[in-house]
Amino acid sequence: MTSERKLMHLEICRDMDVGSRWKTTHLEDVELVHLATPELDLTEVDLSTAFLGKKLSAPLIISAMTGGHPSTRKINESLAKAAAGLGLGICVGSQRAALEDPSQEETFRVVRDASEEMPVIANIGAAQLLSPDRLSLASRAVSMLKADAIAVHLNPLQEIVQPMGDTKYRGVLSAIRDLSRDLGVPLVAKETGCGISREVARSLVDSGVSAIEVAGAGGTSWAAVEYYNALKQGERSNAEVAETFWDWGIPTAMSICEVRPLKPAITLIASGGIKNGLDIAKSIALGADLAGVARELLIPAFKGYWEVSARLERMVHELKAATLLSGARDISSLRSAPVVLSGGLLNWIRQRGLDGDNDD
Ligand SMILES: Cc1cc2nc3c(=O)[nH]c(=O)nc-3n(C[C@H](O)[C@H](O)[C@H](O)COP(=O)(O)O)c2cc1C
Repeated sequence: MTSERKLMHLEICRDMDVGSRWKTTHLEDVELVHLATPELDLTEVDLSTAFLGKKLSAPLIISAMTGGHPSTRKINESLAKAAAGLGLGICVGSQRAALEDPSQEETFRVVRDASEEMPVIANIGAAQLLSPDRLSLASRAVSMLKADAIAVHLNPLQEIVQPMGDTKYRGVLSAIRDLSRDLGVPLVAKETGCGISREVARSLVDSGVSAIEVAGAGGTSWAAVEYYNALKQGERSNAEVAETFWDWGIPTAMSICEVRPLKPAITLIASGGIKNGLDIAKSIALGADLAGVARELLIPAFKGYWEVSARLERMVHELKAATLLSGARDISSLRSAPVVLSGGLLNWIRQRGLDGDNDD
């Protein structure tokens, strides 16, 4: 059941237009200031950064997508080989299907098989954390991959609009607190396309998470995915509710600004609608430590490892170019590169009182 649903989600994301309809990431409201005399060669730009105690060649990971059905094995293999080959990291999709049916474990293990050194993040849903077995489920998810951390995905909108979705969310924060105390690997809290607010970020930090992946609005819409899923199942009423919430959520640029005051207590991962290296550069200049990309890599992953690798290489090259053209020589200087903000993002920052960098 879980396994079949994973495949259906993957096919809907591949075949249908599940992007935001009218909302954007608002990264277009961020301008990096062009420097015509960089006084630096492109080859001198150093994009390397530390993550989970390991070194990434560039501040980029593949965000959670798949595993859990026999046909997802090849996709995870392509994603993982490409990430490993370029010195990047990867988070697997929800491991629920493999926790329910060990014959699916192989579809996830293939990710660690690509490299012992690559940062690999396991994945479990907030709904599963409410099980009294949460510690053993999370431990199994981590050991399946010899993972460096585990992501807890927060997807309340998706569960609400999904036919037969799991709408119990009371107790998630205290379950996260238990896990972060007892599990022994860092916890990454991630949304799945609706973003994270400052208030939520604060409670996640209080609950012990080490990293927050914002997964803001403006990219893949899980309400859209569930809209098509409900139509396929003949659940018209669910489809209508899902369509109403198609564009719900905090756009990615806004969510980065919401979460950044919590640094350095957490690592901030920008994601949700990241399409190219310029989006990554803008996210970092706004305050993110690294970026995550999901659906942009899905079609390449169906084609194979070389396609994923080519797409990631292009992103890294674009990031390097944007870093140089902003007058920065490495990721830490890109973080303090000047930016000019406008439009909806500036409005949001003012109304939400995010002008200063204080967490108050
Ligand atoms: C096909 C597909 C499957 C996904 N499955 C998961 C999942 O199992 N667990 C999870 O935490 N996020 C999952 N996501 C959400 C992504 O990790 C990401 O947060 C979201 O898609 C926004 O990023 P994007 O706009 O780059 O796609 C999935 C995304 C896609 C496209």
